[in-house]
Amino acid sequence: MLRSVVTGVGGYLPTEVVTNDDLAKVVDTSDEWIRERTGIRRRYRAPEGVSTSDLAVEAAKQALQRAGRSPSEIDLIVVATTTADLTFPAVATMVQRKLGCPVGIAFDVQAVCSGFVYALAVVDGFVARGQAKCALVIGAETMTRLMDWTDRGTCVLFGDGAGAVVVEPGEGQGTPADRGLLGFSLRADGAKQDLLYVDGGPSSTGTVGKLRMQGNQVFRHAVVNISEAILLAAKAAGVEVADIDWFIPHQANQRILEGVARRVGIDEKRVISTVADHANTSAASIPLAWAEGVADGRIKPGDLLLIEAMGGGLTWGAAVIRL
Ligand code: UT7
Repeated sequence: MLRSVVTGVGGYLPTEVVTNDDLAKVVDTSDEWIRERTGIRRRYRAPEGVSTSDLAVEAAKQALQRAGRSPSEIDLIVVATTTADLTFPAVATMVQRKLGCPVGIAFDVQAVCSGFVYALAVVDGFVARGQAKCALVIGAETMTRLMDWTDRGTCVLFGDGAGAVVVEPGEGQGTPADRGLLGFSLRADGAKQDLLYVDGGPSSTGTVGKLRMQGNQVFRHAVVNISEAILLAAKAAGVEVADIDWFIPHQANQRILEGVARRVGIDEKRVISTVADHANTSAASIPLAWAEGVADGRIKPGDLLLIEAMGGGLTWGAAVIRL
């Protein structure tokens, strides 16, 4: 059987650093509150003129270089984003143009913070059918553009960035020893839209809108939903949670990361956490953390990875991948 094998990962953070103290000058908050409730110390912000596709291109370049591939080999690009440069075309076609990739398949996936997990599962469908030989799966966001800078309950939580993986087909035996995406679980519950959404859009207000969130409600759902998705993904992959080498969660809040790890029985030493330095970069957070784990030598070939996320929709999901 054909497996979707991740052959390279890259990440990119924009140049501007925003500390908690910087935000305390804008809204009634403090470094102490933000660190205690979220674990966040700082976040990155894309400067004016730099858009989501620019971040995506930089992350993709690094992923391609680590995979030993060139843009000319890319036949499928899927970008997970909720902060596209324009209402259309898709960021993916902009990345295709900016990287100089040949004519192929390119489109965006919109599942907010769960976007990267959804996009990987979508790409797996193309790879498993032999319809893609070299794919880019990118999570890229400029979430700071959706912030209401008078709402301290949300504006301190998010940052900008991008992460990317190169996915190629590899022959597998259909066992958990195979390299590649071994199993996943995706879920959505549209009845919970009001907990996390943006109050604008092209066919409603005609504006971009601002992010609105009932943080404590989202928090409550996150730990339960994500834990359930992890167990389903592990079952689909035919592995035990105890077999996982590295847990790479969506980076929304350190307390959520720890709560999930405790609930499903993952040792805290196995958790890759970047929330302190990146804050919540939505669909970019998993590949960014993954890239960091590879760059600092923790994640190695053959390792079994578990990724998970939850976001607006609500959407959530998890996936198990062997490198
Ligand atoms: O990626 C998408 C998924 N998103 C998430 O997973 C986010 C999930 N939610 C969270 O991470 C947490 O709920 C928050 C960090 C957003 C909030 O933490 P919390 O412990 O749930 O606090 P809370 O919302 O219950 O608010 C507690 C208090 C409130 O004051 P009162 O009503 O008790 O007087 C808030 O007004 O904290 C206040 N507060 C703040 N204080 C200082 C809220 N934001 C801030 C702030 N600085 N930035």
